[in-house]
Amino acid sequence: MREQEVSVIGLGPMGRAMARASLGKGYRVTVWNRTAGKADELVAAGADRAATVHDALAASQLVVLSLTDNDAVYTVLEPATEALPGRVLVNLGSDTPESARRAARWASGHGARYLTGGVQASPPDIGQPGFSTFYSGPKEAFDAHREALEVLTGTDYRGEDPGLAAVYYQVGMDLFWTTVLGWLHALALADAHGVPAEEVLPSASSMLAGMPDFLAFYTRRIDAGEYPGDLEKLAMGVASVDHVLETSRGAGVDTSLPSAVLEVFRRGMAAGRADDSATSLVEVLKKPAAA
Ligand SMILES: NC(=O)c1ccc[n+]([C@@H]2O[C@H](COP(=O)([O-])OP(=O)(O)OC[C@H]3O[C@@H](n4cnc5c(N)ncnc54)[C@H](OP(=O)(O)O)[C@@H]3O)[C@@H](O)[C@H]2O)c1
Repeated sequence: MREQEVSVIGLGPMGRAMARASLGKGYRVTVWNRTAGKADELVAAGADRAATVHDALAASQLVVLSLTDNDAVYTVLEPATEALPGRVLVNLGSDTPESARRAARWASGHGARYLTGGVQASPPDIGQPGFSTFYSGPKEAFDAHREALEVLTGTDYRGEDPGLAAVYYQVGMDLFWTTVLGWLHALALADAHGVPAEEVLPSASSMLAGMPDFLAFYTRRIDAGEYPGDLEKLAMGVASVDHVLETSRGAGVDTSLPSAVLEVFRRGMAAGRADDSATSLVEVLKKPAAA
């Protein structure tokens, strides 16, 4: 019966969605949140309200943590460490790989097993098909609770190192936020010319829809360390980014993003890569910029 129980600590939009999904699948769900009122709707739907963090830990072997970051995890769990032995903590909050490894050591020192998770979904997607979460940490703990975790999203177990799921998650977030910011800058530029976002949508969508082929083609070359300028050259890319920067300046919009992009392209040029593909910039980006 124990595998039918889950405690959820942290009831922001994500934790609430996870508790709801588990309730919907018939799990006995115990919830705790710093701001207790956020549990009301879940309690009305059948969840047990833990009066203390200790009670939430004691209620289930599987404990899902959905807090802002690992500082919040320590703040919440430190006063209740005597309830940690035997628990499996599944931390689905965002933090760095090193912080995940530290948290796993901390949990282990208190007798708990620890899985890191990186959720690739937003709250309305929880419990819906087609979404996935990276996991890493002890495989036997993951296997023991896979079924309960798959109530939330699909699972993608990456390995024993508790930092790995955070690596995959942060790599995804790196791509996501820089892409979103690029899109928002493009919309600001369009707006400065009287073009609404709606009018940009078809061409923006079409460009992004072509990305899987672009990535697949260049990924093979990048892993082989090959950057031939047979299809495009960095020197062409520099001119193109410079035009974006000048168009932005002329429109009176913020130029910090294209300026930063141009600076990276120029470092590639200075490294002698003018005739290589612009994807050779990955070699520039592997090192910190000189101060
Ligand atoms: N929302 C998303 O789309 C999404 C997607 C993927 C991953 N995630 C990750 O999932 C995690 C939770 O997301 P969320 O949107 O639910 O985040 P959130 O709105 O930041 O909610 C976080 C929870 O952390 C609690 N908390 C924060 N600091 C605390 C502290 N010092 N002591 C005690 N409790 C504290 C909050 O309690 P109170 O209610 O008392 O403030 C709340 O329950 C985050 O790490 C986020 O990066 C979110």
